[in-house]
Order: sequence, then C-alpha cells, then structure tokens
Amino acid sequence: MKNVLAIYPGSFDPVTNGHLDLIERGAKIFDRLVVSILRNFDKEPLFTIDERVEMLREVTRPWANVEVDAFSGLLVDYARLREANVILRGIRAVSDYEYELQMAMMNRKIEPDIETVFMLPAEQYSYLSSRLVKELARLGGPIRDFVPANVQERLSAKFK
Ligand code: PNS
Repeated sequence: MKNVLAIYPGSFDPVTNGHLDLIERGAKIFDRLVVSILRNFDKEPLFTIDERVEMLREVTRPWANVEVDAFSGLLVDYARLREANVILRGIRAVSDYEYELQMAMMNRKIEPDIETVFMLPAEQYSYLSSRLVKELARLGGPIRDFVPANVQERLSAKFK
C-alpha cells in the first residue's frame, strides 16, 4: 500500500466550515493531510500567518493525521520538499473550475509526479467563502453557521 501525503493549500483567512468539511473528507482518504497556508505578500490578510496557523491547529486537533503548516514560493516546490503525492483542492461551483483547472494544469506541467485531487464540499457550503464571512463579520451580520467557534470569537474581536 502507498503512503499518500496530501497538501491542502490555501489562504485560510480565516478557515471556514467549508474548509473544515474538506479537511474531514481529505483526512478520511489520505494517510496524511497537511493544511498549508500560503505566505502571500501581495494580499492584505485580515489574520496574520500565526493567527491562521493557531486557528487551524485548534480546529484540526480531532484528526491525528492532519498537520498545519505554512509555505512561501511555488506550491509544487513546497509539495516536493514535503514529499507529497497529492495537492487537494475544493471546488464549490462551476465558477471555481476554470481557475482551478489552470492551476492544476500548470502545476502538473511543472511537476508531473504530483497529482491534483478535487473534492466537493457538502452542498450547504457551496456558496461559502472566507471573503464573504469577513464581509459579514465586518458589517455585523450573522457568522455563526459559517465558521467554527474559535474563528467566530476572533472575528468578533477584530471588528469590535
Ligand atoms: O485559497 P486560495 O487563496 O485560493 O489558494 C490559492 C493557492 C495558495 C493554492 C495558490 O495561490 C498557490 O498555490 N500559490 C502558491 C504560488 C504558486 O505555486 N503559484 C502557481 C500556481 S500555478
């Protein structure tokens, strides 16, 4: 049997219930799953890398085979470094597909040995995004159904 290590990369600013749903699905299928936060110097994030790592570690504690990490540079370089076999990405709707296809194809061109695997989150998360959650939180809307409790607290604290 192969020992499959999957990387689940993203911004996770912040982690939502949709991400968690995907992590749960990934943790069932792969031997190990590394949730990896991109250190993106272009974007202006709401939460620092340390805050995002902390929130993700808190919510992924139930899964013994899930690890949280951060990376910079090319995803495939990082995946190679970690000796990963798979890049895991979630697709919510058709609108995600084009961008994801481009990224997966480019990554395959650069590193043919790493396979991108797409998974679908539960349908109640098909419209959920970190961006919309942040907007809701900023404008005082309800976020309870969309993020775990620790993230809810931190979002409330940011926009107090
Ligand atoms: O959750 P996001 O913000 O949509 O995640 C995008 C992410 C982190 C997967 C993507 O931006 C990425 O892989 N960035 C690392 C740089 C890289 O490898 N770029 C080339 C992709 S073809």
